[in-house]
Amino acid sequence: MFNWNRSSVLVRRTVGYSAIAALLCAGVSLLFLILVGNRDDNAARARVTGAWDRVVPLIREGYLPAMLPAGKDIALQVLDARRRVVASTPQLAGKPPMATFQATSASVETDKVLCPPAGLKGCMTVFSYKVYQPDGPWLLYVATPTVPWYGNMTALSFAIGMSVLTTATTGAGTFHVVKRDMTAVDAIRTELEEITATHLHRRVPVAPNYQEEIKLLAGAVNDTLDRLESAYKQLRQFTSDASHDLRSPLTAMRTQLEEAQMNPHDTDWPAMTSAVLAGVDRLQAIVTDLLTLARLEARAPLDLSPADLGRLVGDELDHRAYRMKIVRDLRRNVVVDCDRLRITRLLVNLLDNAERHATSRITVSVKADGPTATLEVLDDGAGIAPEHRETVFDRFTRLDASRDRDSGGTGLGLAIAREIAEAHHGTLTIQDSERGARFVLRLPIREAPEITGRSRHRADHGGLFSLPAPG
Ligand SMILES: Nc1ncnc2c1ncn2[C@@H]1O[C@H](COP(=O)(O)OP(=O)(O)O)[C@@H](O)[C@H]1O
Ligand SMILES: [Mg+2]
Repeated sequence: MFNWNRSSVLVRRTVGYSAIAALLCAGVSLLFLILVGNRDDNAARARVTGAWDRVVPLIREGYLPAMLPAGKDIALQVLDARRRVVASTPQLAGKPPMATFQATSASVETDKVLCPPAGLKGCMTVFSYKVYQPDGPWLLYVATPTVPWYGNMTALSFAIGMSVLTTATTGAGTFHVVKRDMTAVDAIRTELEEITATHLHRRVPVAPNYQEEIKLLAGAVNDTLDRLESAYKQLRQFTSDASHDLRSPLTAMRTQLEEAQMNPHDTDWPAMTSAVLAGVDRLQAIVTDLLTLARLEARAPLDLSPADLGRLVGDELDHRAYRMKIVRDLRRNVVVDCDRLRITRLLVNLLDNAERHATSRITVSVKADGPTATLEVLDDGAGIAPEHRETVFDRFTRLDASRDRDSGGTGLGLAIAREIAEAHHGTLTIQDSERGARFVLRLPIREAPEITGRSRHRADHGGLFSLPAPG
């Protein structure tokens, strides 16, 4: 479709750039022509001076021939004291004086432009010289074609030709480039207009002939679409999983309530209330976990501070009561930058799972491994088969054994734990172990100078690397 807006931009750009080119050409041509004009004028004056140099000695010495040799672009006449023509170049032979003016008494030379001088054609600059002779002043007339300010026609044609060519090339070039860019931008816009939530797989075109900036723009748009598409897919998956997991307890509660309503006398009300409350608890747990996940996914800023990971884990273990033996192997001075609340949440999720699956004991260890801090939670339960070691981190994934046991988990604990690890630029994976599941969290160790006497003193005053007081 013809777009007036577009074509007016195209015309404006083309005319604008052409006008700038024309102005530049005009300036350069003017300078060039003035230079050529000066050069030609100097050449003409040199010819005239040369003629004077040749003829005056002949007049003075009395050897002046009636016919002077012809010169290129020059006509000469010599008039005696009585203003009779006594010598001339061939084109003026037998002709009357070409001019009648002469220099004032103060000077010997003057010139005038005559169009034409008598006996000649075209406009010529006529120089009149006085040559003092015993019988009175003789006159020497030298006529040479008048040099225009631009020098000559060749120079003028050349300047005009080059200017027209440069302006036309600039105009055509601008038109081509602007049109190509507009076509590219149009193609990108058209494609973008057609992309909706249902067409998120489509991408804007990136043709090899696009200008580099436009290619970069199209690339950036496509990257954004990639991210949008994957976010949208995630959202859809999430919605479907969430609605399923929210609907199940709701349906169960509804059935229990309806049955009680139909048979109020046969209903064990305390038991029914407990069952419904359990359903409410479950819904509440799911909603809380979903909100936590949503916040983590939105990459809400972490409240980072340096923490001794071993001490942090030890404190958490001290605060909780466990149904089984907890073996600790917690190295000190493994300092990481972390959001304490979130890392504690990650640990609690791992410990809850371990407690649910362990047979008799859980081992928790913290170590430094080069630039990485590792936190391991190992239990002595049935473990997780290698093929499930990634899927358990997906939302709402609960392996069959756990479902059968109806552990009350939401299926979101590990998804939350992994999000927390990644938000800290770390990883959370399941590693091989002799027995049971071995969850390994890796976090970058804080790069900080060793805390020695002096720096400890600084840290105590709230310095950059300060550690929280124990306990
Ligand atoms: N320590 C473990 N041992 C065996 N299986 C585990 C362990 N931790 C997690 N799982 C499996 O991974 C699934 C997902 O865990 P999680 O996301 O915490 O959900 P939930 O604990 O609510 O079921 C669990 O349902 C369970 O099947
Ligand atoms: Mg769990």
